Amino acid sequence: MTRSEPPDVVDAGRLTLRRPRPDDGAALYEAVVASADHLRPWMPWAGGYTPEMAEAFVAGRLGDPEADANYLVWDGDAALVGGSGLHRRLGPAAIEVGYWVHVAHTRRGYASLAAAALTGVAFSLAGVDAVEIHHDEANTASRAVAQRLGFVHVATRPDEPLAPGEVGVEWQWRMARQAWPASAGARLLA
Ligand SMILES: CC(C)(COP(=O)(O)OP(=O)(O)OC[C@H]1O[C@@H](n2cnc3c(N)ncnc32)[C@H](O)[C@@H]1OP(=O)(O)O)[C@@H](O)C(=O)NCCC(=O)NCCS
Repeated sequence: MTRSEPPDVVDAGRLTLRRPRPDDGAALYEAVVASADHLRPWMPWAGGYTPEMAEAFVAGRLGDPEADANYLVWDGDAALVGGSGLHRRLGPAAIEVGYWVHVAHTRRGYASLAAAALTGVAFSLAGVDAVEIHHDEANTASRAVAQRLGFVHVATRPDEPLAPGEVGVEWQWRMARQAWPASAGARLLA
């Protein structure tokens, strides 16, 4: 199925990805604050997080609505376990996927499953030939997600550090449209 827009809800089996709603602000704030020490090294927005920042995010006032399709990730108990998003900043034919997971819910495959689900969504969009994951060289957990899904390391380049854990070397990983159906990431969704 080819879509023109990412859907509002993505069913990923034991996880559900939903575009943020205005009443998600409190849950998002609690998740980020509980995870602050875990997120701060890698996510530039995680330091000094405020309820107002959470409200602005869920109201869609942060980022570029044309470029960013952000999702909150919920488990079967309706707990907010993280966030993931599709970002159009790589030209018309490629989309970047990003992710974070609540510190109390890491190492359960949630980032991998959410990123796999959004990679599938990206390839359902007309004209998208590749999905990429970018992370700082020091972020071994993020690298492990890209590897687990079968993305291919395509570039390493200097980059300005934006968060305190970053060393300023960006690793870029790519999934080509034709490689996706047989990939480890697609198998996670089967
Ligand atoms: C990176 C992050 C999203 C991973 O979330 P997660 O749900 O724990 O990841 P998964 O459970 O899907 O694990 C995927 C792989 O990463 C590995 N992994 C997860 N955390 C790891 C860690 N801290 N160190 C090393 N490997 C790690 C897992 O072992 C797994 O690999 P495997 O299947 O080969 O064993 C999470 O650690 C996080 O939120 N980090 C802070 C935010 C961030 O860095 N986001 C990415 C910015 S580019």
